[in-house]
Amino acid sequence: MATALVDTRNRPLRNLRVSVTDRCNLRCGYCMPEEEYVWLPREEILHFEEVSRLVDVFIELGVDKVRLTGGEPLLRRGLPALIRLLAARPALRDLAITTNGVLLAEHAPALRAAGLHRVTVSLDTLRPERFAALTRRNHHAQVLEGIAAVPRAGFSGTKLDTVVIRGVNDDELADLIEFGRRVPAEVRFIEYMDVGGATRWSAEQVVSRTEMLDVLARRYGGIVPVVETSSAPADRFRLPDGTVFGIIASTTAPFCAECDRSRLTADGLWYLCLYAMRGIDLRGPLRGGASSAQLKALITGGWTARTDRGAEDRLALGERTPLVQISGLKRDPHLEMHTRGG
Ligand code: GTP
Ligand code: 5AD
Ligand code: SF4
Repeated sequence: MATALVDTRNRPLRNLRVSVTDRCNLRCGYCMPEEEYVWLPREEILHFEEVSRLVDVFIELGVDKVRLTGGEPLLRRGLPALIRLLAARPALRDLAITTNGVLLAEHAPALRAAGLHRVTVSLDTLRPERFAALTRRNHHAQVLEGIAAVPRAGFSGTKLDTVVIRGVNDDELADLIEFGRRVPAEVRFIEYMDVGGATRWSAEQVVSRTEMLDVLARRYGGIVPVVETSSAPADRFRLPDGTVFGIIASTTAPFCAECDRSRLTADGLWYLCLYAMRGIDLRGPLRGGASSAQLKALITGGWTARTDRGAEDRLALGERTPLVQISGLKRDPHLEMHTRGG
């Protein structure tokens, strides 16, 4: 394993989230509430060979986990070809995808055959009419079929991510845990975050980790934390019957101190924090003929200077309103959560 580079707060560079498209086939209210979006220009989207070349440089600097994200990554044509390139790198001990599941039933076998290790599917509700209201699309049945296709294709370690929003789906926590148990998949509840793109965010709609644990303890009895040391954002818990679930408390209890992740957008900007206002352009140098040593120097310089702790800074504000106004998002779509990969 390469010796990991560390930033100003001694956090290693280990985890790279690679967005392969900014487009999505859902319009979740917490992520893409607007009617119109400005998309990244096609000619600026990195080719698979370019992504693969950058990933090789990141691997040399210590990255050993890669997660493909979007928008919706399965909208990127020919995605298995990229997976095949990345799966051929033994240094990547984890190669996963985060998808909304709509196209998963048809793609799961090819993803598996290409060498993908793990799948995480976003699932906010088990009720079709809620799904339609939340995502402004009628694809609930397809998502459920997509989830069912994951174990059938031979994947294990599957996770289901649920963004919990007060008055929207906060009465479904136990139902989702039961559903996850049947898949089988580990369910993770995510606190609603005030990231770029979440223009409808309000503090009242956030259901905190504490509150979620209270509700679940009332239903299931004693819940115990799973003791582990990992940099994954989820705190994991065990129900009396052994079922494990996670909570990602980014809003009320940020984990910036442990954050080893960065993000590459589909057009090759490298962001060191989910909340960062600016990214480092890797596409320009890459297409301008930079050598691997030059790219390595650029990435090293960026990471060693990293001070970001976006979620902690937001929490420290006390009173919060959405991070970026709609006009700002239209001016720079890179500020959108769906562009930088959730
Ligand atoms: P695992 O390796 O399976 O633990 O993956 P993961 O939890 O890193 O990936 P996933 O895409 O499932 O992330 C779940 C959710 O956690 C994201 O969609 C975000 O809502 C949130 N999240 C992921 N990364 C970050 C981060 O760097 N900072 C914050 N504050 N939240 C994050
Ligand atoms: N709050 C929390 N998570 C979000 N995601 C997108 N927007 C938000 C938000 N405002 C995450 C969800 C979703 C993934 C693709 O991005 O986890 O499942
Ligand atoms: Fe990492 Fe930024 Fe998320 Fe904090 S807010 S955990 S520093 S990406």
